[in-house]
Amino acid sequence: MEIFVCKDYDAVSEKAFEVMKDIVANKADAVLGLATGSTPIGLYQNMIKDHKENGTSYAKCQSFNLDEYVGLPRDHRESYYTFMHTNLFSGIDIKEENVHLPYGDTKADCEAYEKAMEHVHVDVQVLGIGANGHIGFNEPGTSFDEETHIVTLTEKTRQDNARFFEGDINQVPTHAITMGIATIMKAKKILLIATGANKADAVAAMIDQAPSTDCPASVLQNHKDVVVILDEEAAAKLNR
Ligand code: PGA
Repeated sequence: MEIFVCKDYDAVSEKAFEVMKDIVANKADAVLGLATGSTPIGLYQNMIKDHKENGTSYAKCQSFNLDEYVGLPRDHRESYYTFMHTNLFSGIDIKEENVHLPYGDTKADCEAYEKAMEHVHVDVQVLGIGANGHIGFNEPGTSFDEETHIVTLTEKTRQDNARFFEGDINQVPTHAITMGIATIMKAKKILLIATGANKADAVAAMIDQAPSTDCPASVLQNHKDVVVILDEEAAAKLNR
């Protein structure tokens, strides 16, 4: 793992953008694995700014998102489909037909997503990390061998996400469809970003403890090309 500790959120977003830009600049038809959450918003803003100012094009790129809530229509304001269009896709020139997010709640829906990814090789997978160490919606205890599957969200994850649902946990969906850890690990490169003191324990477990399903992100120690970009608060509990 290559680990960068930056001063703050803006510096993390800038560094993450450098990694992304390097990939897209060298491969016009790059396949991007994308994530939702508050952490990657700064990265996405930098991509939009760069597209507008420097003309970096995503017209030949494809994107595959990590996950989506079960039970929210795609046009719901808190669906990840809406999030991605609002925070990234509407600001760059990626083609709608090249944008992919998992959707649905059946085994067939999961298999369809794996099939859509069958003939591509994700060049870079952007990841955040949950305060409990989840990546995508792969909660603690998830087997490292899982592909796209339906998950029951933990109370902790639903509490963390209640801020997007008027602070009301009862409005947060109870299930999600997510790429599995085996799906995520197929990416050529992983770009994990984490900021804030509430991520410090999960970050320390990811980097300093032996890989264990107790901290799903710790599986990344087994991947050969991982860049981790942290702010000082998220890095505060690391040994080194
Ligand atoms: P966040 O979520 O970026 O909103 O903190 C990260 C995650 O849960 O994976």
